[in-house]
Amino acid sequence: MSSLPNKKLFIQTMGCAMNEKDSENMIAELCIKDNYILTATLEDADLIILNTCSVREKPVSKLFSLLGEINKQKKQKAKIGVCGCTASHLSSEIIKRAPYVDFVLGARHVSKITQAIKTKGFVDVDIDYDETAYQFGSFETQTYKRKINISIGCDKSCTFCIVPNTRGSEISIPKELILQEISKAVDGGVLEVLLLGQNVNNYGKTFSNKNSKSSFVELLRDISKIKKLKRIRFASPHPLHMDDEFIDEFVTNDKICKNIHIPLQSGSSKVLKDMRRGYTKEWFMNRCQKIRELSKDVRISTDIIVGFPTESQKDFDDTIDVIKKVKFDQIFNFKYSSRPNTQAEHFSSIVSKEQASSRLEQVIELHKTQIDEKMPSNINKTYKVLFEQKKENGNFIGFSDNGYQIEVQNEKDILGEILDVNITNFHRTYLEGKII
Ligand code: 5AD
Ligand code: SF4
Repeated sequence: MSSLPNKKLFIQTMGCAMNEKDSENMIAELCIKDNYILTATLEDADLIILNTCSVREKPVSKLFSLLGEINKQKKQKAKIGVCGCTASHLSSEIIKRAPYVDFVLGARHVSKITQAIKTKGFVDVDIDYDETAYQFGSFETQTYKRKINISIGCDKSCTFCIVPNTRGSEISIPKELILQEISKAVDGGVLEVLLLGQNVNNYGKTFSNKNSKSSFVELLRDISKIKKLKRIRFASPHPLHMDDEFIDEFVTNDKICKNIHIPLQSGSSKVLKDMRRGYTKEWFMNRCQKIRELSKDVRISTDIIVGFPTESQKDFDDTIDVIKKVKFDQIFNFKYSSRPNTQAEHFSSIVSKEQASSRLEQVIELHKTQIDEKMPSNINKTYKVLFEQKKENGNFIGFSDNGYQIEVQNEKDILGEILDVNITNFHRTYLEGKII
């Protein structure tokens, strides 16, 4: 540890869990190697990092007004860095439009953060860079849970998606490094890991070292052998790669939490083809049906895009049909947003803005009704809950294996324990229960 006084780092993260993990890695690099400490007050910071998302247009258009605000509020000598997907996508354009920005670091260059902060005008956004063998220090945001990257980039070419242009092609992180990182986390008290990748179940298709070999199922089996690790989650699997072997492992491996995110995008086989998703409505429904049959209390969440340029009323009806049949437990809804350098950018649209908004509304309303119908069925069920937070009123909050937030009253401290809870009450977004 250096004896220099600490410098303060303010970091704002937009977007997905992958970006959150990248921010944790940057914080670890800066705190361990460069004597930074975190601050939640922008005005106190010596270094301000925006870790950006460019999956939809809105956050990108807000970036420059946000940067302007930051520039007004910051300490005079504080540095500003733009990292993440919008950094990859806009590159040196960011410094041209906002010359007070000190550096721009793309989503595949997290390991270069200590270098970037030292050079005014530093720009590195090359999407071929391979940092899969880099070992980051750890920054703990949660005591019992840890996010673990298992791959970088994406090897798909969904026609609506900018990610392959910002995060580059897919490379898996060597299995030994993943196992080492988890073992270390577990020795420090972590009980649950969230494995992260754009398409986790494509793990092992491409490694930097051509001799490495492992499938996702083999990785899951090896991770499960880590004794003190109690729970495994992952996000997100791609429906196309959900073969029977994957589903069997998911339903039979006791350490794998029975809560799975399966991004549908559209329920119409025609639109799925236009999106180049590689599966049909029937395949998607068959996979969900199989999972529901084999795992009684499984919860399935999804992503849905409405208003894709070629989505007719009939196509949208197919999406509604899938929602009605699969009965998703959670839906992340998006209105299609045209992105630069994607194929769909050039599709002419048959959907008006009003139709897209109305479709979004219909999905939201249908889902609400389904949730209201489903929540009461939790009464009297027993779930295993990992308790991780104590509220001001003394109640404890945790998550069940299948991903429900559950609140209980208890005299004794139960943080870090996994306990059986009998459900006594329900709300739209959480359950209440008693420890048994
Ligand atoms: N427009 C709207 N939603 C998008 N997503 C990705 N690209 C777009 C886009 N151009 C959504 C997808 C993906 C989620 C992370 O973001 O549903 O699964
Ligand atoms: Fe984007 Fe498709 Fe890759 Fe997901 S799988 S990151 S939606 S290109």
